[in-house]
Amino acid sequence: MLNQRYAAIDQGTTGTRVVVFSEDGKHFSPAAIAHKQLTPNPGWVEHDPMEILRNIRNCLNHCGVVDAIGLAHQGESIVAWDARSGLPLCNAIIWQDQRTEATIRKLRADGVEETVRARSGLPLDTYFSASKMGWVMQNVAGAQELLRRGDLRLGTMDSFFMFHLCGVHATDYNSASRTSLFNIHTLQWDEELCRIFGVPIEALPEVRHNISHFGDVRYEGNTTPLTACIVDQFAGTYGHGCLEPGQMKITFGTGAFLQSITGAEVPDAAGSGLLPTLCWKLPGENPLYGLDGGVYNAASAINWAGKIGLYSDLEEFSDFPDEPAIARGLAFVPALSGLGCPHWDRSAAGVWAGLSLETERKDMLQSILEGIAVRSAEVINAMDKVRSIGDTISVDGGLSSNAYFKQFLATLIQKRIVSPSNREITAQGVALLARRGLGNTHPMKVRNQQSITEPQSRDFTPYFERYQDIINRSRNLRNA
Ligand code: G3P
Repeated sequence: MLNQRYAAIDQGTTGTRVVVFSEDGKHFSPAAIAHKQLTPNPGWVEHDPMEILRNIRNCLNHCGVVDAIGLAHQGESIVAWDARSGLPLCNAIIWQDQRTEATIRKLRADGVEETVRARSGLPLDTYFSASKMGWVMQNVAGAQELLRRGDLRLGTMDSFFMFHLCGVHATDYNSASRTSLFNIHTLQWDEELCRIFGVPIEALPEVRHNISHFGDVRYEGNTTPLTACIVDQFAGTYGHGCLEPGQMKITFGTGAFLQSITGAEVPDAAGSGLLPTLCWKLPGENPLYGLDGGVYNAASAINWAGKIGLYSDLEEFSDFPDEPAIARGLAFVPALSGLGCPHWDRSAAGVWAGLSLETERKDMLQSILEGIAVRSAEVINAMDKVRSIGDTISVDGGLSSNAYFKQFLATLIQKRIVSPSNREITAQGVALLARRGLGNTHPMKVRNQQSITEPQSRDFTPYFERYQDIINRSRNLRNA
């Protein structure tokens, strides 16, 4: 056991990486490959699942011999494929994709939101997998015919990768709980939810524990068990060591994703905008539930600013004046894909308020960071009202290394922010789960130095209140 090594596949929205962890606490990442972001129509976001599958295989080929593999994936994104050829029927439809907005509006008008929420824990939103799968059934040539022949396979992207890597049609409890088709009380696919969204239940994968022998992966002459699968955000939760009720983290990736652990019962968070969710279920243990809240745009807002030429180097997101941009009247709402938690309003659009002839490019960059921080603070405050989260939160992801961002956020929420020096928290989480899948339950040495940002004793509440007004003004702009 001393020399055992575990490969974590971190298959995210923008790319695929593999990170190898060993029992001595060391880790290295031998490969990372970005994939194309396809946006064929306004509001549509697609990936080529075969390109990503090739990237996963290429990454694994750089790992050498490992004892187990874990798969962390991009959550709610879906694929439909033909069981005989293994070929996808169309590109993967990504969690950010909003093509089903009209369907969601209709379902809301039909009055099914409470049924969906009561069974799946999730609100009606294009974010989740169900309406995307329903769209495939309605719009993709061949889907109905394959279904009639019993050859249609539908699932979140982990199930497509597992089909090819291990020859199974399987997923895990946590991934299933992000689809809006899974009943988080009975822990089964829900017939009524499948009917509501027009998804054939028989095409969905078998749901297994997050630690399971999903199958064996062959690469470079090795045959290695895949022993863990989980959505990347929840791999991050596990990787942070948030395992007990009351613990929580935020990952700043494409979006900002907050997860807290609540316990073995489905938490009641009615009216808070937070989503009860199944964090993971391990063999022989009760399911562990939590609350989840996502802000759609974090790094994606920063990338957008780069795309339109507001900066050329990420280094420019530093050396800001101590006085926040909002204090100078400038505020940015990063609702570029709508407002996620706690508003769940896709009619909202990005807003810059307070521009003047004196506004400089640098002020705009500063206000982008502050806007992401304020949206994240809204989710943290919602969480704090439902469950006290103490005076410390753990963060990771790209923005967790931006000193101005962390200081502004810490002061805004008046909590200490802890960020690990280990940048591979997501991979670490799924590697630890894969390791447990081999029966290794004793603590593994992990190198995890932390940096701490203390809140300043300044009152940012007035800025927060000003933002509420601007956030409200961002609503109903998209369909105007
Ligand atoms: O819910 C979507 C989320 O899991 C995607 O995360 O890091 O791949 O952008 P990321």
